[in-house]
Amino acid sequence: MSPVRAPPPLHPDFHPEASIDAAGPGKLDPSHRVILYLEDITVSFDGFRALDRLTLYIDVGELRCIIGPNGAGKTTMMDVITGKTRPDSGTAFFGQTVDLTRMSEPEIARAGIGRKFQKPTVFERHTVFENLELAMKADKRARKTLFATLGDEARDRIADTLRLVRLASEAGRAAGLLSHGQKQWLEIGMLLVQEPKLLLLDEPVAGMTDEETDRTAELIVSLAGEHSLVVVEHDMAFVAQLGGKVTVLHEGSVLAEGKLESVQNDPRVVEVYLGR
Ligand SMILES: Nc1ncnc2c1ncn2[C@@H]1O[C@H](COP(=O)(O)OP(=O)(O)O)[C@@H](O)[C@H]1O
Ligand SMILES: [Mg+2]
Repeated sequence: MSPVRAPPPLHPDFHPEASIDAAGPGKLDPSHRVILYLEDITVSFDGFRALDRLTLYIDVGELRCIIGPNGAGKTTMMDVITGKTRPDSGTAFFGQTVDLTRMSEPEIARAGIGRKFQKPTVFERHTVFENLELAMKADKRARKTLFATLGDEARDRIADTLRLVRLASEAGRAAGLLSHGQKQWLEIGMLLVQEPKLLLLDEPVAGMTDEETDRTAELIVSLAGEHSLVVVEHDMAFVAQLGGKVTVLHEGSVLAEGKLESVQNDPRVVEVYLGR
């Protein structure tokens, strides 16, 4: 907990009297446009500013891609959102009531923010189904409300998720036997059974085949609307497939934002990418 309470976001959509859970767990609240407010976030490591007054808003149900050269601050931004790194200054709100700068990582996960790291971390000896079951049980909210009374609903949710991530035919296989791409999908499934409102994906197609990359793009596009998504990615062809708004980070702040074609033609963006 930071000793000084951060000011609420300045964005006109922010209404602190509202409740993020007006829509219930796992459901997005459509009565507000913005789900994530980052304002003036600064993170310093030994005087070096990894994030430098970063301001960024993500809309409810939006699919946003974050690009930018190595060292731009993309992973640090994810670390701030998930509570792994505390900002030195700035405001980070999830929905209308959740001040991310005052919460622990588990509290933030329970509030509905799921994060997928680059390397898949599935339980290799367990089956695909068991991995989803374990992920669901790890979610304390689900343990209380679902497993006590709604066993069938939990199984249905796992079955739906298996279909969504295209692993229904692999449900009984040990996760260790899946291809790299399938493991990545399983891990996305493990996040989905916890019904996050906001999903953060760090380079989800790294190491995938072209076909796996195409399928991952379809999966991510299909999740938008029901979830808000922030995808950090280097692969421009993949970013183009996703089709959402793109934010270019550079030296810890936003350099450009908009459709991929327009940011790609922005001379400042061209210089940052080609100037290295
Ligand atoms: N824990 C840390 N300690 C010191 N420097 C760090 C730490 N984490 C990140 N950095 C530095 O902050 C900058 C931004 O890093 P990062 O957020 O990982 O960038 P990106 O993900 O865009 O490649 C880099 O210069 C990196 O070296
Ligand atoms: Mg990174």
